[in-house]
Amino acid sequence: MSADILDGRALARTIRAKIAAETAALVARTGQMPGLSVVLVEGDPASQVYVKNKEAAAREVGMAGAVVRLPGDVAQAALLAVIDQLNGDPAVHGILVQLPLPGHLDERAVIERIAPGKDVDGFHPENLGLLAQGFPRFTPCTPLGIRALLIASGVSTRGCRAVVLGRSRIVGLPMALLLMQKGEGGDATVTVCHTATPDPRSIAREADLLIVAVGRPEHVTAGWVKPGAVVVDVGIHRGEGGKLKGDVDFADVAPVASWITPVPGGVGPMTIAMLLENTLKAARLARGEPTDS
Ligand code: GUN
Repeated sequence: MSADILDGRALARTIRAKIAAETAALVARTGQMPGLSVVLVEGDPASQVYVKNKEAAAREVGMAGAVVRLPGDVAQAALLAVIDQLNGDPAVHGILVQLPLPGHLDERAVIERIAPGKDVDGFHPENLGLLAQGFPRFTPCTPLGIRALLIASGVSTRGCRAVVLGRSRIVGLPMALLLMQKGEGGDATVTVCHTATPDPRSIAREADLLIVAVGRPEHVTAGWVKPGAVVVDVGIHRGEGGKLKGDVDFADVAPVASWITPVPGGVGPMTIAMLLENTLKAARLARGEPTDS
């Protein structure tokens, strides 16, 4: 057996084309472009690349993408003032503060300062609370992209045993909440493993769907995977010679799994596609228009 590929790159391309068409229709109808502002506090080299990609993706679908770059030693009050200014700008529909922030900044206070109606990352407590209660407004982009990829590939999660490795607020926690929702792409029985879980490998081996977000290169090998399981790899790491690797040892796991995401070309492009979807939704919500979900 060798796994089929969950092709996030191809699906993201299709979704971006649909968003571009919907954005053009919105602009034609209202004269206003959806606007996404990404705030980057300089310091993390990987974040520089991610932020540039997000801005470019927004512009490619006809949105007004902008990056606000702040020096690595920016004061908390100055960062909050930038967020206040974006909150009050009617041309900005989506605000994203790239994480991680340097250690001197209070990440929680920064996220809570973003207007919940512009929080296209879905990290504000109001949005996470809505998701937890089963009334999602903005859902974090990586879990949302994983769900879209599973649905589009015909992988049913209903009644399945899902194991999420990692409890981060960006991925693991909202992924678990999403898999527990009623309806398509949800209805799973979910277990979350984290740094205090004894023997996560034996728990992972029970999973029909294994979501790996541990932040360690090629940590998950074939011995962690039940034969026929669906494996989703959220990690991205640069190895020797610049080669990208995930949290999953792809060559080892692919012969055991039924479906697997590649790195690159799996979860990453879907995350950006969902950011655009959330931004379009934010622009519609700002006008009081109905949205799909
Ligand atoms: N850092 C890594 N992933 C993300 C993300 O989805 N959003 C933000 N804001 N920062 C990140």
